[in-house]
Amino acid sequence: MITTKTINKHISEIADLISDQELSQTLKTSLVSRQDAIDKIERCFNLLPECLGPTEKLAVFLNSWKATHLKMLAIYGLSCRLQRLAMNAGPESENYAQLMLASAHNAATSYEDLGLDYAGETHAQLFNDFADVLLGDYPWSLEKYCVPEAQEFRGWIYQNMVVSDIKTGLLTNVFSEIYNHAEFTIAFAAFSEYVDRQGLTSSEREKALKYLYVHVAEATEVDHLFLVLKALDAYCVVTKTSIDYVEARQLFEEYLSRIGKIMESLTAPMEQEKDGELT
Ligand SMILES: [Fe+2]
Ligand SMILES: [Fe+2]
Repeated sequence: MITTKTINKHISEIADLISDQELSQTLKTSLVSRQDAIDKIERCFNLLPECLGPTEKLAVFLNSWKATHLKMLAIYGLSCRLQRLAMNAGPESENYAQLMLASAHNAATSYEDLGLDYAGETHAQLFNDFADVLLGDYPWSLEKYCVPEAQEFRGWIYQNMVVSDIKTGLLTNVFSEIYNHAEFTIAFAAFSEYVDRQGLTSSEREKALKYLYVHVAEATEVDHLFLVLKALDAYCVVTKTSIDYVEARQLFEEYLSRIGKIMESLTAPMEQEKDGELT
């Protein structure tokens, strides 16, 4: 067993830090009602070190998993939408500053991904390094290695953040940050064990794990969560509304269900490998 804490615990302990008690409780309720999806996700990461064989299975895992992260374009789109509202309202409007602030807070969730303080080393580059160390020249980045559920998920995120109403976009970003925090933590443990089994040199090991390490060691996603919450607060002030917690819960549950389906699909070949060992 790799993980000492479950996804549930990682998300719950961050949810406890959220001052909006109803939002905090909504997050926890969605975890309980989608425990089946969380079980699938944890099963995937638990099997991974032993059962994720090299080449094609690994290519499918990495390509599909990447499709669930790296939502920089969607973040940029959402910030543009908030800025456009501010520009349309004009600098004299009472809403101008709050909308610009909401946009800025949301955009700040992509600083690390863009490599702003890391000499331009982007997280996309770190992911490529991760895959390249594990797969060499294998063409893992071809779309054919992305499972349909992950392709759909990527489209769903973009639709939510760039096309649906802005509050749905911000809530999608909220859940993405808190979920990714939990997932990166268990993924780091799983891939640390995986690379140990591959007999890599220490520099290869470091290069492979850096993408995961930077998210875990610097609690990047937790910082992002609180930035999106500030953006959401500012947007609620402008629109004189509050969060629709029923909508929020449905969104969080759908997020977990979709990730659960992706992980179930990625786990199937690992289960076969495990069964093959037993027969
Ligand atoms: Fe990142
Ligand atoms: Fe993030």
